[in-house]
Amino acid sequence: MRIDIITVLPELLKSPFEASILKRAIDAGLVSVHFHNLRDYTSDNYKSIDDTQFGGGAGMVMMIEPIDKCISKLKSERDYDEVIYMTPDGETLNQGIANQLSMKGNLIMLCGHYKGVDQRVRDQFITKEISIGDYVLSGGELGAAVLCDSIIRLIPGVLGNETSALTDSFQDGLLAPPIYTKPRDYKGWTVPEILVSGNFPKIEKWREEQALEHTKTRRPDLLED
Ligand code: ADE
Repeated sequence: MRIDIITVLPELLKSPFEASILKRAIDAGLVSVHFHNLRDYTSDNYKSIDDTQFGGGAGMVMMIEPIDKCISKLKSERDYDEVIYMTPDGETLNQGIANQLSMKGNLIMLCGHYKGVDQRVRDQFITKEISIGDYVLSGGELGAAVLCDSIIRLIPGVLGNETSALTDSFQDGLLAPPIYTKPRDYKGWTVPEILVSGNFPKIEKWREEQALEHTKTRRPDLLED
């Protein structure tokens, strides 16, 4: 997989890709992530990427030209499966979207700033708009980092134990059950007996019950349909 991220703040985005699972995935050649600074695609001396709104109103709007130049250059080099715009009014990211995107080959992610981008960018270039939640960030960069993390960990071979992504919360529409490790007794706080019983069918059943119970109390909305 290849991910191209278009941003005015590449430095805000780099560190998540220089550590942990994301770095491992990149080092293993399972994914490559490329940053494109929009200011490199401006045509004036001030390297302007934004301007005031037509019709008046507070806040600057990102201009179409640098974005067009950047996206068109990328598209002239290869085909893309999706051109994603990170925006609070997009479709809310969930595990289903992450699963779908993890099976794609090439993705572009455009990070918005200020009030957002000129509507013509969305109309002409964007194939998918994603929000990471109902709150407003100062820019799309942190959202893009979250989206990348959720996608990249699902690429086969990225996680050491392939089954571990399958047992994540949300993968079966439920939250994950509680988990424990050694010691069995810590300050009198003990691990549920069932988990040390060695009875694996019973343990599996217990986990399913716990996952359902956990989901009922915390996220009943997940059980609605
Ligand atoms: N940009 C600003 N807020 C955002 C959000 N909630 N999700 C994605 N991109 C954003």
